[in-house]
Amino acid sequence: MRKRRSPLKRIAAVIFVLASLVALGFVAVSGLRHPSDQDPPVSGLSAAGSQAAGAAPNGTSGRTSGRASRDQPTFPLDTSLHSTTDPHSIWVVVNKKHPLQPLDYRPAVSIVRGYQVATAAAGGLSDLLDAGDQAGLGLKIESAFRSYDYQVSVHGNLVASEGQAAADLASARPGYSEHQTGLAVDLITPNSPGCDFKSCFGRTPAGRWLTVNAWRYGFLVRYTVADQAITGYQPEPWHLRYVGTALSTAMHTAQIATLEQVFGIPGGDYPR
Ligand code: DAL
Ligand code: ZN
Repeated sequence: MRKRRSPLKRIAAVIFVLASLVALGFVAVSGLRHPSDQDPPVSGLSAAGSQAAGAAPNGTSGRTSGRASRDQPTFPLDTSLHSTTDPHSIWVVVNKKHPLQPLDYRPAVSIVRGYQVATAAAGGLSDLLDAGDQAGLGLKIESAFRSYDYQVSVHGNLVASEGQAAADLASARPGYSEHQTGLAVDLITPNSPGCDFKSCFGRTPAGRWLTVNAWRYGFLVRYTVADQAITGYQPEPWHLRYVGTALSTAMHTAQIATLEQVFGIPGGDYPR
């Protein structure tokens, strides 16, 4: 025959069961909030930069300043404002995977200090050169707009002297050069002539000044040491590309150096 518990013992048993249930619930909830299950820290890449490996769907990325995910900073500009494929656009992306269309495109040009540049870039370039003069740098244009036919000879001469692989690291094939858009210029400085078109240009006062200040005039130093795998070219601290001050300022703010990262457009080597 079962022995009946006293009322006091039954109350104690109920309290024990209730306390156990509360304790189990606490363990379950605190397990969900374990640090390793929380949101990852912000990576430091912008929303645009973190998508660099992704393919751009078309001429404009369609990405706007309000569409970053919750754990990534927002790129501070609507990246669909201009086309990235129209060669007339100041945001056109020209790299080894994205030639000019048409291949023999010619821009409308204006003359800056004796050189042809795309009219859209002329004001910014004049301002940059004037500012460089005031800083005592005496920057000079050495190359600006280059036609398809001219690039045939520039690139062909380098292939003949250096071989195809070395030439492709330093010079674009015809139809693949930013110079053909009229938006790119190569600058030299009389203060350090031994560094013209050499990597040491980046360590000259002129090279350092361009690295720090080109964005103020709407330009990017397009081929940097850090971004060779993305751009497909060895560093060219003398090669500036005009994109307008809205984009150059946004890239400076977001600390993104390449157009490929901003627009999520593949770069690197020529397709095999
Ligand atoms: N040197 C650059 C890559 C060009 O040829 O356009
Ligand atoms: Zn150049």
